[in-house]
Amino acid sequence: MEEIWRSPKSSRFVSERVRKTPPSEIRKFFDLLSSTEGVISLGIGEPDFVTPWHITEAGVYAVEKGYTMYTSNYGLAELREELAHYLWNQHRAGYDPKSEILITVGVSEAFDLAIRATINPGDEVIIPEPSFVSYPPCVILAGGIPVFVPTRVEKEFKLEAKEVEKRITERTKAIVLSYPNNPTGAVMNRTELLEIAELAQRYNLIVLSDEIYSRLVYGVEHICFPTLPGMKERTILLGGFSKTYAMTGWRIGFAAAPAELIEAMVTIHQYTIMCAPIMSQKAAVEALRNGERAVNEMLEEYDRRRRIIVKGLNEIGLTCFEPKGAFYAFPSVKALGFSSGEFAERLLLEEKVAVIPGPAFGPSGEGHVRCCYAVSIPEIEEALERMERFVRKYR
Ligand SMILES: Cc1ncc(COP(=O)(O)O)c(C=O)c1O
Repeated sequence: MEEIWRSPKSSRFVSERVRKTPPSEIRKFFDLLSSTEGVISLGIGEPDFVTPWHITEAGVYAVEKGYTMYTSNYGLAELREELAHYLWNQHRAGYDPKSEILITVGVSEAFDLAIRATINPGDEVIIPEPSFVSYPPCVILAGGIPVFVPTRVEKEFKLEAKEVEKRITERTKAIVLSYPNNPTGAVMNRTELLEIAELAQRYNLIVLSDEIYSRLVYGVEHICFPTLPGMKERTILLGGFSKTYAMTGWRIGFAAAPAELIEAMVTIHQYTIMCAPIMSQKAAVEALRNGERAVNEMLEEYDRRRRIIVKGLNEIGLTCFEPKGAFYAFPSVKALGFSSGEFAERLLLEEKVAVIPGPAFGPSGEGHVRCCYAVSIPEIEEALERMERFVRKYR
């Protein structure tokens, strides 16, 4: 895991763009984590479930049947067709499987393609923060300029249209949306998203909507951004299998957008990746066809854990607003007087609980830490006990 964060910045052979890409704040943490024994990790943002067996079996069966070759650059037709049905059934988002859907190596690749296919050097990209760590580096590596919009706990970390508008200039090209949000668990309702849609229309901006957590919502409706009036034509929808179906290691995701944008993304994808692995695509077909029961079971379990962790954190004095999506709680640690980084480091060293400092996801994360509750209930309970001891010691 920690290798991801190593970059040889000091070498004279390293490009200017890579040098300009800030190091991840999470890196230090994974280094510490890997050298500490007996840790309960609320750090890593991935499901603790293994992929449901029938999905794995479809992947294994595909290999056994000799599906070991390239696919079309766009991805298997049967997967794109299943996705088109799925997007329609789940969200009433209508996409032509022949020309408006691209299968990618996770949302990670889909986001990178979306940025590189749309951003010219010097273009500004509006990014709410705190948010997923990959957005700013991808923008910088494409020669674009990330423009951050802070979100605040008082507003449940929702993106406020008036804050976005203040940052729009003649160089603004795109807005990134990321709801349900990593690391805050924030979701946006229809009215709030309509305000962003109105700005996109008025200033003629493209929207990159990362909806990887669309299925992980608790008691609220997920609004699929391109289904808002006038938005399909200016939105690249990014979605995946990693979180919904516990398939992080299969590396499979997708982008859905108007044909000319998908074509632009394929122009890069065909030369860099060629296609997502065929066995993962076959497994994804099975996930879409028969995965609903497993999704609902995992969702119920996440919800149980969510309630336990949010209640527990509030009871020990780490104030936590109720996250309505994804699998993260984002409590405030201000009561202890430590910075987020200091809190996380001490908690790891003294009580062996790993959480991620909020500023790893953007400066507005200061005063908070991200606790991923995609771990078992006994582990959450043990982590809460350790955190309570820690809080009592320093309060
Ligand atoms: C908001 C968000 N987008 C994208 C990703 C990457 O997903 P994938 O595994 O599909 O590349 C993550 C992973 O943590 C994420 O939290």
